[in-house]
Amino acid sequence: MEQQPYYLAYEKRYRAVFEAGAERWGHSPDDQELFNALKEWVTANHLTGKSIIEFACGEGAGGIILSELGCNYHGVDIAPSAVLKAKENLKNYPNARIDILDMVKETAGENYDAALDCMGFHMLVTDQDRTSYLKNAFLSLKPGSPMLFYRESYINGNHKEETVKSAVNSYEEWLNITGSDYETPLPRRVDTGDGDIEVMVPLVPARANDRDGYISELQSAGFSVEKFVEMDTSNTIQHSASIYARKPI
Ligand SMILES: C[S@@+](CC[C@H](N)C(=O)[O-])C[C@H]1O[C@@H](n2cnc3c(N)ncnc32)[C@H](O)[C@@H]1O
Repeated sequence: MEQQPYYLAYEKRYRAVFEAGAERWGHSPDDQELFNALKEWVTANHLTGKSIIEFACGEGAGGIILSELGCNYHGVDIAPSAVLKAKENLKNYPNARIDILDMVKETAGENYDAALDCMGFHMLVTDQDRTSYLKNAFLSLKPGSPMLFYRESYINGNHKEETVKSAVNSYEEWLNITGSDYETPLPRRVDTGDGDIEVMVPLVPARANDRDGYISELQSAGFSVEKFVEMDTSNTIQHSASIYARKPI
């Protein structure tokens, strides 16, 4: 039997969180910073009424916001529990749909006017998976279309020593390089919609990059990078950045 990819670790996490009675793990559609960023991006790129794919959409927070902003939304994620939840969360938006898709291995087979990735890219740790995903994302866009990488794990000047610049050819290599523990459950607070509860879940691997590293990865895939924004610390992630990219005409 084929081994499951490491990035399916999120499925286990979603299940643990939902079984504990939590409303969600990822972004809330009420996240004001996310809402403001998406509103500005949609307005600047005239995306109302246009088709947008969101890779690694999770429970669909971005989808709710983009649907409210009048976009035609297609969310995709590899974790079945998140896809089910996103379908439920978006059931009242007739121009929204959600599907299971492995963004590393497949494209949705359509061309979109824009693409969003909200904390998705950094979940991929091998060089090959990152390159393959960016290529798929690039191929999914019409020429001239924007892609927003929102709140990706980021290495700024204060902890530069954590940047992994060497080749990472497999998940095992990543484990050896980082020495991270992705097994031991740790306490995390999640929202039940009626207060917080504690859930014990292991860390899920994520590979951060620095500014030059992210820009070089996106440019190698063919994107032009228009803006790189360092984000404030949030309760979702300590150091993050948003990258505004575009497929050239
Ligand atoms: C940190 S969560 C972000 C979820 C959501 N975008 C949000 O901000 O709440 C990362 C998501 O990436 C998804 N993911 C990881 N690898 C993937 C892949 N190869 N294809 C599609 N989704 C993937 C996970 O299932 C998970 O939902």
